[in-house]
Amino acid sequence: MFVLALTLTLAAQSSEEIAGRRAFHDPGLGKNGVACSDCHATVKDEEKEGDGRLRAGFSLWGVAKRKFWRADVNRTAHPTLSDAVDVCVQIFQGGQPLEGKKRTDLAAYLKVISPGSAPQPSPKIEPALVADLDYSRSEYRGGDADRGRELFYAACHGCHPHGKVGLGPAIAGKNFAEVARKVREGNGLLRGNRRGSEWSPAYGNNRLSSPQVADIAAFIETLSSR
Ligand code: HEC
Ligand code: HEC
Repeated sequence: MFVLALTLTLAAQSSEEIAGRRAFHDPGLGKNGVACSDCHATVKDEEKEGDGRLRAGFSLWGVAKRKFWRADVNRTAHPTLSDAVDVCVQIFQGGQPLEGKKRTDLAAYLKVISPGSAPQPSPKIEPALVADLDYSRSEYRGGDADRGRELFYAACHGCHPHGKVGLGPAIAGKNFAEVARKVREGNGLLRGNRRGSEWSPAYGNNRLSSPQVADIAAFIETLSSR
């Protein structure tokens, strides 16, 4: 009897985790066709163990062992991890706060990718932004298009395939300053001036450096807009 109960518990647990993993990779979780996995890896060392993609968000490895989320040190706005997740669901996926099974499944999966008992540090977002930044300044000018090509396919191609329309609009041929602005500001969330229905993510300094943004922008300028 005891063995049976134990087996059932384990089985139930793993089906919840599996459903949570699926939700994490599900482009249909929200409304805009973007999955959590488009913006977050789940491994400890993205460079060594990742799939080569450069995502706007940090890896969520260890996320359930962080003391707070979204720089909310006292956990006032986001008392639980699920509350922190809901910000992404609403703002980056156009969805509603997760409820019921979806919420518990996803939480179970985030625990799976947070192994061990040691508390994990909360990643520090470096927005690399000051208001009214002049994106045409030298920092983003004259990048290397060859290097930018590689970075583009790792970071941008998923939403702007070959610079053409995809989940995001066509961006081929856009001027470097326009590109730099969008990469740095996204929908404005990190700057605290979020714009309407826009949902594209901003890349902080510690996700893409300024020389990397310049390289990507130089590559996009070489793409034909027709
Ligand atoms: C369009 C991109 C995007 C999508 C989609 C997205 N996120 Fe995020 N998320 C971000 C960015 C950017 C941040 C802020 C930087 C960071 O902490 O990674 C963030 C932050 C977070 C944080 C806070 C991490 C911390 O320790 O402060 C959690 C938790 C999170 N996301 C979970 C999720 C989950 C789960 C999903 C899917 C339900 C999801 N996100 C979907 C971009 C996204
Ligand atoms: C998760 C999907 C996603 C990723 C990844 C992404 N974008 Fe976007 N991008 C969008 C969406 C959606 C828009 C439309 C505006 C909005 O919703 O914020 C957009 C808009 C833009 C625009 C403005 C286009 C216009 O007509 O105004 C530029 C430029 C741009 N993205 C460049 C990039 C670059 C460069 C990268 C890679 C570093 C990138 N994006 C990565 C989704 C994405």
